Amino acid sequence: MATRPRRPLLLSALSVLGLAVVAATGSGVQADREPGILTPPPPRTPRINGPSVYGVRPGRPFLYRIPAIGDRPMRFRAEGLPAGLALDEATGIVRGTITDLTPRSHQLTLIASNARGRASRPFRIVVGDTLALTPPMGWNDWYTFYEQPSDELMRKAADIMISSGMADHGYQYVNIDDAWMGKPGSNDPALAGPARDERGMINANGRFPDMKALTDYIHALGLKAGLYTSPGPLTCAGFHGSHGYEAQDAARFVEWGFDFLKYDWCSYEKVAPKGSSPDPERLQKPYRQMGTLLKEQPRDIVLNLCQYGMGDVWTWGAEVGGHSWRTTGDLGLEKGERLPGFYSIGFRNARHSAFAGPGRWNDPDYILIGYVGNAHDISEPPKPTTLTPNEQYSYMSMWVLMAAPLFYSGDITRLDPFTLNVLNNAEVIAVNQDALGLQARFVRKTDDEFVLVKPLEDGSLAVGLFNLSEETRTISVRMAELGVNRRRVRDLWRWKDIGVFEDDYSASVGRHGVMLVRMDPIP
Ligand code: GLA
Repeated sequence: MATRPRRPLLLSALSVLGLAVVAATGSGVQADREPGILTPPPPRTPRINGPSVYGVRPGRPFLYRIPAIGDRPMRFRAEGLPAGLALDEATGIVRGTITDLTPRSHQLTLIASNARGRASRPFRIVVGDTLALTPPMGWNDWYTFYEQPSDELMRKAADIMISSGMADHGYQYVNIDDAWMGKPGSNDPALAGPARDERGMINANGRFPDMKALTDYIHALGLKAGLYTSPGPLTCAGFHGSHGYEAQDAARFVEWGFDFLKYDWCSYEKVAPKGSSPDPERLQKPYRQMGTLLKEQPRDIVLNLCQYGMGDVWTWGAEVGGHSWRTTGDLGLEKGERLPGFYSIGFRNARHSAFAGPGRWNDPDYILIGYVGNAHDISEPPKPTTLTPNEQYSYMSMWVLMAAPLFYSGDITRLDPFTLNVLNNAEVIAVNQDALGLQARFVRKTDDEFVLVKPLEDGSLAVGLFNLSEETRTISVRMAELGVNRRRVRDLWRWKDIGVFEDDYSASVGRHGVMLVRMDPIP
């Protein structure tokens, strides 16, 4: 049947949206183009966030802080908690080791209550071989602090992850990037000293006096700790890498209590130059080695492959033991032309949607908003992003729809309300953390607009309508293009039910902006 634009059954989408845009932004073209904070204040009643499914290997330590928003104090309960785990009722932190080593699912109900109400949600713990059943979320220091990470900074970041509400939205990993080890040839006394001890175990540099104490601190908050190294002799920033000491390093990371490793190709290029053996075996070898070593450890460590997409890593990253893999070069170095660099990185990442799934994620690099350092000149202090508000909503929406790992890498010590509003939207993040684990596919992409659709576990669809043009634009999607008919539509940034739509749905979207909606089936 030919589809003719139809008015929705309940409301006229365009007029309502038009009003919403103007109301949210004031009047005038500039205001219409650049909205401020779109999301209403969070509810004061409890709302449990985060994934509904979580993977752990048999016999490995378990740690999970139930992310929840709403007034504090809050009391947490968990029905069906497997033997070996204990829940702290005041903090919502679950710890322990599940005593039943059988690979199986444990079905729980998480409950949070406060003076205003109560919320409950199903939660499934899957004891098996797959970690990162939903995309990992956290903060990484690289794009703000570059070669200056320290114990003090990481503790502060962990504290802020809690106090800013990021942890209540599911952010969990506090990740140290490059430059935590010694640097050969450095004049800085903090970076000098032997690379390794007499057992061949890598030493942290003088800015990290006690790594175990640091991860203890992070774990006490219910958060997790991440680290970085390279399979080459040197990291990208010229610090000591793992080459020749891979087994010691895997054991060291466990001894120190880390939960995440980013393994960055870099100087491995010198160990295995192009043509030294056939690709992709040459490219896979170091990752298979570390992937295998990590699986053998008595601790779960999520492995992020950082090799910029070489050899179609998305086709083999999971098989060598990776849980996510960078699909492109560094976002902070990407020179945008007509559009900011995150678009071209995102478009390249979007092509590999077929390869993503629970435990295997395409990684288009970090979320760079708020105060961000300059990757082209790391000596420059962090500056406020040059991305417009609309572009920031588009960036986050693309990453969410692409089931990308969500790592903020701007200055966590200087979060402003707008940046937090982009990072901490429970309904938006729920799309990213959906248990089905599908990456959005393009419904359409032209020079002026694109539409991404991500099917969700409950049968609903998350749909992003993105405007790439310089003017406000009406973007439509036909239900037939999405393979559905009648749907109830909710605006996820504004937390507004828009109405019921039959043949198609249209939205007026500002310059470089997005309308991100969930389309629910109607019983
Ligand atoms: C590479 C990676 C970045 C960062 C730096 C550290 O460029 O792609 O994400 O880890 O190395 O030196």
